Amino acid sequence: MAVLPDDLSSALDDELARHPVPRLTQSVERLSTRYRQGDAAASPILSSEADVAAYAGYRMPATYAAVHAVLAEAASRAPGFEPRTQVDVGGGTGAAVWAAADVWPSLARCTVVEQVASAIGLGKRLAAEASLPAVRDAEWRRGFVDPAAPPPEADLVTLSYVLGELPEVTRPDVVRWLAAKAEAVALIEPGTPAGYERIRAARAQLIELGLHVVAPCPHDGACPIEPGKDWCHFAARLPRSGLHRRLKAGTLGFEDEKFAYVVAGRFTPERPDARIIRHPKKHKGWVALDLCTASDGLKPGVAVSKKQGPRYKAARDAEWGDGWSNS
Ligand SMILES: C[S@@+](CC[C@H](N)C(=O)[O-])C[C@H]1O[C@@H](n2cnc3c(N)ncnc32)[C@H](O)[C@@H]1O
Repeated sequence: MAVLPDDLSSALDDELARHPVPRLTQSVERLSTRYRQGDAAASPILSSEADVAAYAGYRMPATYAAVHAVLAEAASRAPGFEPRTQVDVGGGTGAAVWAAADVWPSLARCTVVEQVASAIGLGKRLAAEASLPAVRDAEWRRGFVDPAAPPPEADLVTLSYVLGELPEVTRPDVVRWLAAKAEAVALIEPGTPAGYERIRAARAQLIELGLHVVAPCPHDGACPIEPGKDWCHFAARLPRSGLHRRLKAGTLGFEDEKFAYVVAGRFTPERPDARIIRHPKKHKGWVALDLCTASDGLKPGVAVSKKQGPRYKAARDAEWGDGWSNS
């Protein structure tokens, strides 16, 4: 379960207490509907202080969980990559900076670029309560995703849950711009077919630009998933936030945030032989794994039986999203 750090969680509670619950409810409902639509935004979606607080209360714990899972996986595949600087573009209330600073203690200077002034205001107030200096001392800059401007210059450039808000025609330029001066780029989108298609296109472009996929793919080849037939995505489980529990009494105590992602870098990663791309199906005496492999494309339903001893134990412990080794 991906739990928010205590300092972030209590700072969030303090922020939410500043707003009447009915006002937050109204914003949560509007934002949920808007994000479900999933099309590009002609004007900022977060349009009031209450929207920003509602976003922080009901979405930030989930985007934090997704980005944390993504960056932790990337870190495990790139032990030599120790970023000192991060630029988080379209950073909202700062989820990706909190996640990156937790994953990489090497981070010394983080910058959040965001178009909505009140998101910056709230993000700064949350960050002021952080125990990690990289978060506490982060620079917050009002700015736009703008491929005509100088590109973000940092060891790590993150763009989480933003690509889908940008006009489709601009996305290739945005990806080129993000990667221009970065050692590694992490792009995260909702785990929907549309989110996956955006990641798939960005991934192909990053490879063409000479970067190597760090995660999730075990290779730099073409994605073997047939477009329109399936979509590559993963999930992070998190406890329902205080706001969620208040707004939806009686629902489950946890939620699964589904996400699609790619992390690509200008270094050679240590990739697994395969990636588990669905929940392993655990039967009596055997486990079935759906794999995306480095050498053989997609291999659905690979059986690992009890007779295989330690491999069987590894398969029983394995989870959706984990790497898988051939030996
Ligand atoms: C869904 S929120 C994601 C926020 C944050 N990255 C996260 O993962 O929680 C999208 C954010 O991108 C920002 N954004 C969208 N288009 C932008 C643009 N053209 N320039 C700067 N920020 C933008 C929005 O204002 C919003 O804060």
